[in-house]
Amino acid sequence: MRIAEELGLRVSPRLRVVALTGAGISLESGVPIFRGEGSMWEIPEARRLASRAGPPWNTRGTWEYYEWRRGLVSRCKPNPAHYALAEMEEYFEDFCLITQNVDGLHSRAGSRRVLELHGSMWRGRCLECGRVIELPETPLKALPPLCACGRPLRPDVVQFGEPIDPAVLSSALAACRSAELFLVVGTSAVVYPAAQMPLIAIESGARAVEINPNPTPLTPFMSLSIRGRAAESLPRLWKELLSSASA
Ligand code: OAD
Repeated sequence: MRIAEELGLRVSPRLRVVALTGAGISLESGVPIFRGEGSMWEIPEARRLASRAGPPWNTRGTWEYYEWRRGLVSRCKPNPAHYALAEMEEYFEDFCLITQNVDGLHSRAGSRRVLELHGSMWRGRCLECGRVIELPETPLKALPPLCACGRPLRPDVVQFGEPIDPAVLSSALAACRSAELFLVVGTSAVVYPAAQMPLIAIESGARAVEINPNPTPLTPFMSLSIRGRAAESLPRLWKELLSSASA
């Protein structure tokens, strides 16, 4: 049976689709994940630099850690999973991409509207005047980089225990409540509020599909779990959905 049929969905540009992504979608691009095999903490340099990063997050030590990560990501390219999501945004009239990733690979793949729950490593934020500044170049000329007001910037990345931008969060939650199809790709689903989002969508009537080589706490709630790697499984799912589309 076709997947759309199995899910009880009629695929058309009017289908309301939400995708939530996590670090696993970027692993095949070469960006390490946070937990388990292939994680960043298997790299001694990452552990060493991370140990010197910390509040108030606008210090040289924090930026040395982020420059290491930014340098690594700048050498990576989006993979077919990122491109599949960019294509979905083109096809579906009401498509929302929510990511926990701070690597910017969705935008580099062509996704135009990305709700970055945890911010972006390609921006800095001023603790004094609140300005948010794009920092696309790496390596930076000076660490920490300075705001236009002369104060040191911090990375515009949400750290554990910090709140998510309320505008980003409320847009994400609104999308979850109206989704008909919810894709969960490459997240261990242990960090909140992201982990709650698929459940909100399911409670509101969405059909949910997880793509992950490993089971997660969300797996029991899924309409379909695809045990595979995102770069292979997501383009395949997208092709399959598109092939059953009606005008
Ligand atoms: P994790 O590192 O916790 O989880 C990565 C997930 O990707 C795991 O469930 C893996 O099984 C899965 N995975 C591995 N290879 C994959 C592949 N090829 N294709 C698809 N999935 C694969 O990453 P997140 O769930 O994103 O927060 O972590 C959530 C948050 O925890 C991060 O945004 C970060 C971190 O602390 C902050 O920095 C605030």
